[in-house]
Amino acid sequence: MVGATTAERIADWDITDVVLVDIIEGKPQGIALDLLESGPVLGFDTALTGANDYAATAGADIIVITSGSPRKPGMSRDDLLTVNMNIVRSVTTEAVKHSPDAIIIVVTNPLDAMCHVAFEASGFPKERVIGQAGILDTARFRAFIAQELDVSVDEVAAYVLGGHGDTMVPLVRYCTVAGLPVSELIGADRLETIVQRTRDGGAEIVNLLGTSAYYAPAAATAEMVKSILLDKKRILPCAALLEGEFGIDGLYVGVPVKLGAKGIEQILEVKLNKEERQMFEKSANAVKGLVDDMARLKQAAS
Ligand code: 2OP
Repeated sequence: MVGATTAERIADWDITDVVLVDIIEGKPQGIALDLLESGPVLGFDTALTGANDYAATAGADIIVITSGSPRKPGMSRDDLLTVNMNIVRSVTTEAVKHSPDAIIIVVTNPLDAMCHVAFEASGFPKERVIGQAGILDTARFRAFIAQELDVSVDEVAAYVLGGHGDTMVPLVRYCTVAGLPVSELIGADRLETIVQRTRDGGAEIVNLLGTSAYYAPAAATAEMVKSILLDKKRILPCAALLEGEFGIDGLYVGVPVKLGAKGIEQILEVKLNKEERQMFEKSANAVKGLVDDMARLKQAAS
C-alpha cells in the first residue's frame, strides 16, 4: 500500500511518469489504471503504468523500493529482516539493470538495514541510495506536538534522527513552535510521553490496522521524490550512509540531509549534547546489530 499511495501523491503533482511494479499479475496494472482514471477529475496528466517486469521501468530517474513483508501486530520492524533482505536484494538488482543512473529511495523495513542491502546490491555511490524514515518519524512527532498545543502543524519544526526503530532519537532541544523552544510550552513529563508515542508511532498504527501504516510513509516518500526531481534541495531527515559524520563510520542512520537532483548533496551535522549523543549512538548500534545479523545470515547461506 505504501507504493500505491506514494504513486497517488506523485501523480497529483504532474511532475513525472510513474511505473508501478509488483510480482502479482494484474495488481500493478489495475492500480495504475485506477489512478490514471482519477486524473480527469483531479486535473493531472501524469502517465501511470503497471508491470510485472522491470523492463517497463527502464531509464527511471528514481526507484522507490517498498517491496517486502509488512509488520503484523506484535512484530518489531527488525523481525522482518530475513524475509525482506532477500526481497530488497533481488528487487534492487533487477531494477538497477534497467536504470543504472537512478537514485534509489528505500522504504522497506527494517529500513536502515535494507538501505545497506540496496547500497551493496546496486553498487551505486552512497549519494544515490537513500532511506525514507526520518520524515515519517518527524511528521509523527510534529503531529503530536501540534495536537497537544492545538496549533497548526505548520508552526512545529522538529527533527527525529537515528535509526527507524524503537531507539530513534526525537531531538526535543531542536523542536520549536513558531520559533519558540517547545520546552517552554509543554512540560517535561508530557514531552517525554510524546517522544515515546513517536517512537511507538509505527506500532500504534499496526495495532489499530493489523498491518503497517501507509498514508504517512507514502507522504514522506513522495516528498523525497519531489525534492530530488525538482532539485529543491530541501533539508530533510533521511537515512544516509555515514562515513565519519556524527562519529559513525559505515552505517546507514537517519540524519538531516540536503536532497536535490544528485540525491544526497550534503549531510548536515547537528551538534548533539551528551545525552542526545548517547541516544544517537544507541540507535546506530541497533542498526549495526542488524547489519551484523545480515552478514551472519549471508555467510550461513553461502
Ligand atoms: C512505520 O513506522 C511502516 O515503519 C513504518 O509506520
